[in-house]
Amino acid sequence: MARPKIALIGAGQIGGTLAHLAALKELGDVVLFDIAEGTPEGKALDIAESGPAGKFDAALSGTQSYEDIAGADVCIVTAGVPRKPGMSRDDLLGINLKVMKSVGEGIRDHAPNAFVICITNPLDAMVWALREFSGLPYEKVCGMAGVLDSARFRHFLATEFDVSMKDVTAFVLGGHGDTMVPLVRYSTVAGIPLPDLVEMGWTTQEKLDAIVQRTRDGGAEIVGLLKTGSAFYAPATSAIEMAESYLKDQKRVLPCAAYVDGAYGLKGFYVGVPTVIGAGGVERIVEISMNKDEQAMFDSSVSAVKGLVEACKGIDSALA
Ligand code: APR
Repeated sequence: MARPKIALIGAGQIGGTLAHLAALKELGDVVLFDIAEGTPEGKALDIAESGPAGKFDAALSGTQSYEDIAGADVCIVTAGVPRKPGMSRDDLLGINLKVMKSVGEGIRDHAPNAFVICITNPLDAMVWALREFSGLPYEKVCGMAGVLDSARFRHFLATEFDVSMKDVTAFVLGGHGDTMVPLVRYSTVAGIPLPDLVEMGWTTQEKLDAIVQRTRDGGAEIVGLLKTGSAFYAPATSAIEMAESYLKDQKRVLPCAAYVDGAYGLKGFYVGVPTVIGAGGVERIVEISMNKDEQAMFDSSVSAVKGLVEACKGIDSALA
């Protein structure tokens, strides 16, 4: 049986890391697409040349032509401009909306059966626009944010508790931005919820609050350190986890930006919710119950996302 085909639209920092991880994990053959001539070809060749020492079998190629993504099983979209220090994800809106139009049309015309994972920011608005421009089924287009945000949360918690990250689960809901909602009650160490761990003296409420805030600011922290771009290792690893769940029908329960059509009383846009990802794409949205405070945080995150979607409609009348 032929290997799955993975098209990476955008061959920058995240795109290159995605290609490397997909090859190392032998998820399939990789096509890197980018408007920058030479970049996708160079990265593809470099990674392919690492195959003998890295001991993986995968074909890699680079292109400027959408025809070469034909028949892709998975498309991961990072095309666009990343944040510079001082820029919010929302500042990127106008620039990246135009990019989503060309990418959406390219996928529509050449890889309409693919499972599409969008990473380009501002995520919740860009994934919505990408779906609109591509016309693909809603369950086949989603955005990567929750896996990354909860991975950051899990990393900080595991460090605080001095335990393996494998034993830390964490839940983050809402939009991928400063309003994201790390859900402390649903986050655990080996099944023990965080509030219980505070009672057990493993940490203090103050420390936990600081970790929640650091998670919210996780992207900006990396931008501040790197100065010339935004995070790429953790975002790429997170998207690969989602792609693998789709390709292998693992039915992992992963938080991602999914289209809501009634879930959580919401309709008509994308927002970060827990989902089940399998061969059908986003097969299910998991609806958890929230207390008053959590609901209030979620609501304000949702209105931030809605604001961005409205702004997109204002910029491109085809979306209105
Ligand atoms: N079509 C294809 N590729 C494009 C287009 C386009 N219309 N416009 C820009 N690109 C390419 C650029 O040439 C560049 O190689 O997208 C790539 C983006 O790569 P980087 O600038 O390195 O950005 P990266 O760090 O990979 O982040 C990409 O993900 O997390 C988000 O905020 C981040 O929106 C940004 C995206």
